[in-house]
Amino acid sequence: MQEASHRPVSTSKTVIVLGADGYIGWPMAMHLSRLGHRVVAVDNLARRQWDEEGGTESLVPIATMEQRVDRWLACTGRTITYERLDLCDHDALDACVARWRPEAVVHFAEQRSAPFSMIDREHAVRTQVNNIVGNLNLLFALQAHVPECHLVKLGSMGEYGAPNIDIEEGYITIEHNGRSDRLPYPKVPHSFYHLSKVADSQNIHFACRIWGLRATDLNQGVVYGCETDDTVLHPELITRLDYDSIWGTALNRFCAQAATGNPVTVYGKGGQTRGYLDIRDTMACITLTLDNPPEAGECRVFNQFTEQFTLNQLADLVAGARRHHGQDTTIVHLPNPRVEAEEHYYNAKHTRLLDLGLQPHFLGETLVDSLIEVVARHAHRVDPVLLERPSVDWRTGGNEVWRQYADEGRRGALARATVELVGAATRRPPAHPGGNGLAGGRSVPEPAARPAEPAAE
Ligand SMILES: NC(=O)c1ccc[n+]([C@@H]2O[C@H](COP(=O)([O-])OP(=O)(O)OC[C@H]3O[C@@H](n4cnc5c(N)ncnc54)[C@H](O)[C@@H]3O)[C@@H](O)[C@H]2O)c1
Repeated sequence: MQEASHRPVSTSKTVIVLGADGYIGWPMAMHLSRLGHRVVAVDNLARRQWDEEGGTESLVPIATMEQRVDRWLACTGRTITYERLDLCDHDALDACVARWRPEAVVHFAEQRSAPFSMIDREHAVRTQVNNIVGNLNLLFALQAHVPECHLVKLGSMGEYGAPNIDIEEGYITIEHNGRSDRLPYPKVPHSFYHLSKVADSQNIHFACRIWGLRATDLNQGVVYGCETDDTVLHPELITRLDYDSIWGTALNRFCAQAATGNPVTVYGKGGQTRGYLDIRDTMACITLTLDNPPEAGECRVFNQFTEQFTLNQLADLVAGARRHHGQDTTIVHLPNPRVEAEEHYYNAKHTRLLDLGLQPHFLGETLVDSLIEVVARHAHRVDPVLLERPSVDWRTGGNEVWRQYADEGRRGALARATVELVGAATRRPPAHPGGNGLAGGRSVPEPAARPAEPAAE
């Protein structure tokens, strides 16, 4: 039987997907297009630029947005319209919303790495300006042109931190001095990035109260997996997979470490507990959310994850999966570069999406095996330094690994800019690095030469 969230819709909506070049945004754009919605995919490609700056890159080569939408059309006959724009450019965003008059906007377009936001003052500021200003611009554009539109905003479970009481879905009823009120749940976030999400949540809540906008704030757990029904259709449709310590999640890193025969590195004692979900469930959660919009004036909050794990449980799961293939995996504990509780109570409610009909895919060895298999196929692209060593410490910022790679990233970007400038001046086509097997474009630059143990490519 077809899952509810996979059934073609009876009423097609115009949906703008903001951040559509990203890990989740691209599969989401395809998923909504497949369901029959008119999809406008917006991105300013900031994430590709941040990769270049920091010397990181997706483990699997990804196509340009132009290649992606062309390939999607060729594979399915469906159109996704791509618009390159920055949410911080209010005029451009405002014009886009006015032109398309969307019934729904799904907002992924933020700087999403906690370590990136902890590198130094400049990265903390860049993260908060990008995320908070972009979100605020969006709220004003919606109010001006489509106040009925349903805003689906991606927040994070990390906004809550790890309180010693149960985490509710967005709101908590507090009794105080004989009176009681239902208030936004108190949040003690993990990083400057998560703090930007808290500010977004407050701004959205406020906009719903004063302008009657309708929004769903999705406090999402850590997403894993890189394959959906649509990404597997063609190599140009796959989504990114990050394994370095700035962008890669713990499970991705553990799988990449195990796949390349390296020790799995757990930060601190490993009792850090978080919520997780499969990328296919992200597709389903957002579809269910869109199909069941809130009332005007309502700021609804769902906790979007399906299971909780400690880091130690994830490491054991990966080691167990390897053991079934006759491989031994060593688990080591590194000094924790983050400031966080390493053994703590954690019980976060997550029933509202299940009530809407979510049928979760639970994390098991099959998924771990498939992630390891993807890494193994691209093992020649793994940089051992980025795989093993954290490059940002919460107390002291970016360390020598960060500085080395960032210096190289800057030099590489400068060299490319110079080549393009010279090319433009002499009216020759700009020289773009390629060599990834995907036609044209500069989306998949070859890794620059690296100071220590360069990747094979
Ligand atoms: N990946 C996860 O595990 C996870 C977990 C919880 C929440 N989230 C949230 O989900 C969203 C998507 O995450 P992701 O992993 O796909 O991130 P990603 O970095 O892969 O994608 C984000 C996209 O947004 C774009 N973007 C950023 N700022 C922009 C701007 N000002 N204007 C236009 N485009 C901009 C980037 O270029 C990028 O393509 C983020 O908001 C993130 O905070 C992700």
